[in-house]
Amino acid sequence: MPERSKRSAAAWTGFAVGDRIYARVAKDKLGAFAEYTTVPAEFAAAMPRSVDFDVAAGVQLAGLTALQALRDELHVKPGSRIFIPGGAGGVGTFAIQIAKWMGAHVITTASPRGRALVERLGADEVIDYTTQDFEKIVKDVDGVFDLVGGDTLWKSFRVVKRGGTVVSIAGMPEPSTARKDLGRGLLLSALFWIASFRERAAARKQGATYRFLFMHPSGADLALMSRLIDDKTVEPVIDRVFPFAQIADAFAYLETGRAKGKVVVQMR
Ligand SMILES: NC(=O)c1ccc[n+]([C@@H]2O[C@H](COP(=O)([O-])OP(=O)(O)OC[C@H]3O[C@@H](n4cnc5c(N)ncnc54)[C@H](OP(=O)(O)O)[C@@H]3O)[C@@H](O)[C@H]2O)c1
Repeated sequence: MPERSKRSAAAWTGFAVGDRIYARVAKDKLGAFAEYTTVPAEFAAAMPRSVDFDVAAGVQLAGLTALQALRDELHVKPGSRIFIPGGAGGVGTFAIQIAKWMGAHVITTASPRGRALVERLGADEVIDYTTQDFEKIVKDVDGVFDLVGGDTLWKSFRVVKRGGTVVSIAGMPEPSTARKDLGRGLLLSALFWIASFRERAAARKQGATYRFLFMHPSGADLALMSRLIDDKTVEPVIDRVFPFAQIADAFAYLETGRAKGKVVVQMR
């Protein structure tokens, strides 16, 4: 690339050729593995200096999902009591650490396979979902960040305080998912209104709010994640790294539902 173009590209995007950056692609660009892609500059940020590409690749989706749910939907603040069922997975490992950074008391669920990990990441209370019923233990929390869905979501409505919020990323989308997260109009909002009828009714019965979050790309949020990773506030937990040639194995492992942190595929 001619020097002049490199300079204008840097002035234009804030990034210079050769910079180590990372980004989450736009929602309508999801779905493929590739060596090259294009993203709007505002979706990108300088990678954390303290990690390599394999680790940085595990941050964008799970890290931003956790950050946006805890900050923008649950408004976590010092002293908040937050329940995060499914803490040992890709999103959970970020959520526990970010909620602690925000000053919350964190309650999570994990099997004996994941207990040591979630305790190391700072969870204040760990419930073994294979032997214990969290509904008998957790009471009147300020907010729930549901990563599991199904029965876990239904029970979560009964452990949140009146006026609290249940944010799910594994349940049914609801009207604000269409409007706020997907920038879509009335038709999709109406469809999601019907699809989430039971969830919203269950929340209303408890005097709580149901929200399904679809995360959004953000260079500013990634820059914050880089800072938190470089100052050791947040540790990206990578379970396994697969070479591209073994991508089918990577998906097979992910689909076991037993991943402890993120699963990464190397594109080289
Ligand atoms: N809406 C969005 O923007 C968005 C973004 C990211 C992810 N998601 C969705 O969010 C969900 C979670 O994603 P993820 O990447 O964190 O999943 P993941 O990494 O595949 O989660 C695996 C972990 O879940 C634990 N687990 C399984 N069943 C559990 C249960 N009943 N209770 C507690 N823990 C349980 C497993 O622990 P054990 O092995 O110990 O059982 C394992 O460590 C997925 O459905 C994903 O598609 C949505």
